[in-house]
Amino acid sequence: MPDVRSICAIGLSGQMGLNGVLPWEGDPRQAFVDDVARFFDITRGHVLVAGRKTIEAIPDFARGDRTLFITDRGMDPRDVLARFPDRVVYVGGGPVAWGAYAPYIRHWDINRLPYDGPADRWFDVNWLIAGGASVQERG
Ligand SMILES: NC(=O)c1ccc[n+]([C@@H]2O[C@H](COP(=O)([O-])OP(=O)(O)OC[C@H]3O[C@@H](n4cnc5c(N)ncnc54)[C@H](OP(=O)(O)O)[C@@H]3O)[C@@H](O)[C@H]2O)c1
Repeated sequence: MPDVRSICAIGLSGQMGLNGVLPWEGDPRQAFVDDVARFFDITRGHVLVAGRKTIEAIPDFARGDRTLFITDRGMDPRDVLARFPDRVVYVGGGPVAWGAYAPYIRHWDINRLPYDGPADRWFDVNWLIAGGASVQERG
């Protein structure tokens, strides 16, 4: 099993998405600009596993220096992760994908941003403790 991590950004109440984009999309404030830069820095050189829309939104400049993998509902997360045994794998969402991969994630990187508006996708705190038994088995 690879070193499985997650990287995400949430609003003050756990907001994650709105109308298919980030709820704070286009907000020019430094915290939001820095968050995007940080995402690309931290995932550089590693594997990014995410749903199709999230992977397709990765800009060209960031495609050459990381491995991108589109996951879908027909895949077993364990089979996907087993493809990358010696790598660091970041699960990049969206929320449905986190629900499926949460039991295998050891390290969560959650940036809580100063956003307090509406959302239609939310962080689920249960992801942090999902699949407790399988986490213990993994050692
Ligand atoms: N705040 C953040 O850090 C962050 C990060 C990423 C995305 N987002 C936001 O999240 C929203 C998108 O979320 P969403 O809920 O609409 O879509 P989503 O979570 O991206 O889920 C849809 C994707 O997940 C795949 N999928 C579905 N079930 C799966 C399973 N059991 N295992 C693996 N993959 C599975 C789907 O594949 P198929 O349909 O092809 O089977 C599809 O590609 C957007 O608003 C986006 O901006 C936020």
